[in-house]
Amino acid sequence: MIDLQASGQGLDGYALLAVQLESLLADERDFVANSAQFSAFLFHELGDLNWAGLYLNKMGELVLGPFQGRVACVRIPFGRGVCGAAAQSRETQRVEDVHAFPGHIACDSASNSELVVPLVKEGELIGVLDLDSPSVGRFSVEDQAGVERLAEIFLRLTDCR
Ligand code: SME
Repeated sequence: MIDLQASGQGLDGYALLAVQLESLLADERDFVANSAQFSAFLFHELGDLNWAGLYLNKMGELVLGPFQGRVACVRIPFGRGVCGAAAQSRETQRVEDVHAFPGHIACDSASNSELVVPLVKEGELIGVLDLDSPSVGRFSVEDQAGVERLAEIFLRLTDCR
């Protein structure tokens, strides 16, 4: 990874992560390679996460994709849990306390808050990006905007079909 702190650009937070992600994905468009890199990047750079990865839209059902963290549930129907709600509504789900979310699917008992961003490219739902944290209220409005921006970069730099 290039050292942007040392490059004098003076970026921080999500602006820095956006530039780093652009650099990380610049030379490759393969979906599995880029989504694996994206998951690892988020897991290690955001902090206070116990799971980061993708669920992919396969014939109207979410199927586990590349991720970092403990083993997880493999298939999630649209409309079920936080991921299913994001897939069905195509709206980001920012959940302060997953135990208060109706139908939440507890893949990892360590998870207490969750951010799920739908991945839509050219009108097609590719899947969802799922981030889990052991801390209640881990994800702020700023985190949501920042992660949505990172997801846009990932989609732009990746061949999805
Ligand atoms: N908790 C999610 C399921 C996926 S795991 O967190 C990896 C949900 O309710 O959709």
